[in-house]
Amino acid sequence: MSFSPNTFINNVHKTYENITSIILKTPLLHSKWLSSENNCNVFLKMESEQITNSFKLRGAASKIIKLIKEDPDNLSTEGFVTASSGNHALACAYVAELEKVKTQIYTHKRISSIKKQILNSFPNVVLNYYGEECCEAEIHAREEAKKKGLIYVSPYNDIDIINGQATIGLELFSQLPNLDTVFVSVGGGGLISGIALYLKLINPSIEIIGCQAINDCCMHESISAGKLIQNYSYLNTFADGAAGKVEPGSITFEICQKYVDKWVLVNEEDIEKAVYDVLINERKIIEGSAGLTIAALRKTKIANNKNVALIVCGGNIGIKNVVSVFTDDTKLYSFLIAHHAITCNKMNFLTSVGGDEKQLTSAILIQLMAKEICFSYLVYGMKQKRPARSL
Ligand SMILES: Cc1ncc(COP(=O)(O)O)c(C=O)c1O
Repeated sequence: MSFSPNTFINNVHKTYENITSIILKTPLLHSKWLSSENNCNVFLKMESEQITNSFKLRGAASKIIKLIKEDPDNLSTEGFVTASSGNHALACAYVAELEKVKTQIYTHKRISSIKKQILNSFPNVVLNYYGEECCEAEIHAREEAKKKGLIYVSPYNDIDIINGQATIGLELFSQLPNLDTVFVSVGGGGLISGIALYLKLINPSIEIIGCQAINDCCMHESISAGKLIQNYSYLNTFADGAAGKVEPGSITFEICQKYVDKWVLVNEEDIEKAVYDVLINERKIIEGSAGLTIAALRKTKIANNKNVALIVCGGNIGIKNVVSVFTDDTKLYSFLIAHHAITCNKMNFLTSVGGDEKQLTSAILIQLMAKEICFSYLVYGMKQKRPARSL
């Protein structure tokens, strides 16, 4: 597959104009603790704070808005079909609701409960389950769409989706023009394809590092083998968003082969530690897939004073998984108290639970607090950030 640099860059800028009223320009945070830990300047591109809590909104908005612009009747009656392990589905459901179209979503049976719960709250979504991992759901959804004569929206194997994800590269370059290295989580490869294409075409010396879990790294194994592996066997990973095989014939494979400089694989313990450390040091809730980049940075030798960006790709994590990154109850307890002291008014909280400080040490209460905090992050966060769009 060949890309004309000017056409690609122009298309990304056009896409950005098309989706700018739907997405948020996400902040780029300088991370003091990661910078001093790694002797370089580390910046976090907070896609976990994107509407729907992941970068996936960019690709979904790019594709759906383009389809509607090309022909307003394209999606008017039955809508479109898509497949996802969660975040792309949330993004599609959100854009479909804004644009008043229906969507039939195929997901696998192991989808995380928090993503399932949020998806079920969209009235315009029909949720179907197929297979044990996302690629099986994707292949099935593509066939179903063909049978029904509906448009299929791939989560990564589509140049319009890649153009949308490339808008992260566009924003990042405007926020940090003297960028040296970018760490990106990889599943099907749509995110890294967009970012790598955009940044390499703007400045070929920017280094692009692909990050995957050792337990589930189909793209890395395929790159090593020189062809897309079809019979890849995976293990469960905390980075569930970036898990799963890659669809046969995916355009992302060739883009990764050509534009990704290096691959770093990380283990489950390192991913969980990354999520924990971000919670403690930045007071931000991120999901396992976003932890991949932090864990990968820690395994990479970076020259002193280089400017490094980590794409913090998502923040949709269930309550149990947040609690699981705390290695003991004391740490969880301290975090929750500190968190409440900062975000709420501690005394109000104590009154509202009807107890004094001693009662707070009860493990059950700690779990209830964790649940309340995490859940309010997820649900309240999504509701708050939905912009009102006039059609
Ligand atoms: C949070 C998160 N990070 C990374 C990825 C991987 O993205 P891609 O499939 O474009 O490589 C996904 C995919 O769903 C995701 O949800």
